[in-house]
Amino acid sequence: MKRLAICINRRFESGKPSCAVRGSEALADAFEAAIAERGLDIQLMRLPCMGLCEVGPNVKEVGGDLWSEVSIADVDLILDAVMGHDSDE
Ligand code: FES
Repeated sequence: MKRLAICINRRFESGKPSCAVRGSEALADAFEAAIAERGLDIQLMRLPCMGLCEVGPNVKEVGGDLWSEVSIADVDLILDAVMGHDSDE
């Protein structure tokens, strides 16, 4: 099974950006829905801060690539990359 981590950290008062404020919780829901719909063998892990807050939302394959400034439009492309094939196959 592949594992994909998404930061869902929410920061309220520091003035520093956080992934949840930029929509990563809805993004996590979209990943889970797409994984289920496509029947992919990927576990989504919702994690606290990855330390890359300025470029969030951040998504990382465990042991693999990192994607920053991720939007819902990127979900399928990232899942394709994690599964190791092109989106237009
Ligand atoms: S809040 Fe997401 S990387 Fe820091």
